[in-house]
Amino acid sequence: MHNDCIFAIQLYFMQPVTGFSKLSKSQKIDWLVSNHLNDNATARETLTQYWNEDQKLQDLHDGFSENTVTNYYFPFGLAPNFKIDGQLVTIPMAIEESSVVAAASKAAKFWMDRGGFKTVIKGTKKVGQVHLMYHGLSSEMDAFYAFAKAELLQSLEQINASMKKRGGGIVSLDLIDKTKNLKGYYQLHATFETKDAMGANFINTTLEQLATTFRLKASQFDGFSSDVPEVIMSILSNYVPECVVNVSVSCKIDEIGTINGVTGKEFARKFVQAVDIATVEPYRAVTHNKGIMNGIDAVVIATGNDFRAVEAGVHAYAARDGQYRSLTKARVENDTFIFEADFPLALGTVGGLTSLHPLSKLALQILENPSAEHLMKVTAVAGLAQNFAALHSLVTTGIQAGHMKMHLVNMLEQIGATDVEKDLLRKEYADKTPSFSALRESLLVLRS
Ligand code: MEV
Repeated sequence: MHNDCIFAIQLYFMQPVTGFSKLSKSQKIDWLVSNHLNDNATARETLTQYWNEDQKLQDLHDGFSENTVTNYYFPFGLAPNFKIDGQLVTIPMAIEESSVVAAASKAAKFWMDRGGFKTVIKGTKKVGQVHLMYHGLSSEMDAFYAFAKAELLQSLEQINASMKKRGGGIVSLDLIDKTKNLKGYYQLHATFETKDAMGANFINTTLEQLATTFRLKASQFDGFSSDVPEVIMSILSNYVPECVVNVSVSCKIDEIGTINGVTGKEFARKFVQAVDIATVEPYRAVTHNKGIMNGIDAVVIATGNDFRAVEAGVHAYAARDGQYRSLTKARVENDTFIFEADFPLALGTVGGLTSLHPLSKLALQILENPSAEHLMKVTAVAGLAQNFAALHSLVTTGIQAGHMKMHLVNMLEQIGATDVEKDLLRKEYADKTPSFSALRESLLVLRS
């Protein structure tokens, strides 16, 4: 019988597994290999070859998640020579996509002699909400909030104490009537400063305390004509339009020089046009912003921050006026090319994975143990640089030329070329688009 058939039958007769989390790592692998991988010995080898020999380090990684059976490597690269607000920065990037680090380095080099990247923090406030339902009069909720607000805030004193010492804590608390959007829906909308922490734990703990005090005070209030308000849930928001960094580059048009055979003036005109297209056309905007996230995510991951949170927040921000648009803006003003963006980035440099993962710790050391604000700036620069590099190629040679050059290295590796063969084939394909079949044929010719 064909292997795929045996496999399909196995899956069909497979029983749900109980107590999986209690199995040892080896037992989990045994279960996996026999139930999903057709008892394939190579599969077991693939999993175990990624185990770290240092048991302590392996235990640390196993502890980050649950039901772990192995590690999943990401390349950790460096993009040097970024001039950011006059200082030279080497940016650590964890990313699996070829060309991204090279593109960042190229953008860094381009802007190094043209004033570098400038950054400004526009705000660092984060948001959390307690979501509530109440079906009586909204004036009753207002009266209750006036009755309870002081105690709601007072009940946070202990939780806020150490954050307050660092200059952070809860900044504002408001009751918002959302009944026009959803029948009976209100929220306690809180804003926070969390200093160098991303602040998720602090915000969520604070919100849950607010919910507890809210329930208590509601049980003591006698002005509700309907049932007492119900707390549905308490959670921070990853939408952070008040935690924003602005990043920009600019230079005189005649400083641009000739790029891939295109004059500086022509380059700037097409570049601005490309950004304008991504501003009005969502299909293009998504790819345009994806390229930006190549840079942002790589720094967020390298420094142990939560890239899903950043992704969700950034894309919501890109659609804040109701249409998904480019995050970057470009214009030519008085013969000056100006390229900039506002990025909402809730990042931390203390707490979470930042100090637990040895490579995140190292990434932060490479950045000279930055404050959260400084990390926001560096990350924003990586995003703008990436977009610059992508558009630089797109409006001149096209993306494939550079991309395929980088991809060629992977392809040569995959077809098993030796170092000498790689050199010869790289030369042969310097101005040709490589495909796997063409490369295999060339390799055969070389070896014949
Ligand atoms: C590829 O990862 C990213 C790009 O598609 C971005 C863009 O089109 O702007 C090159």
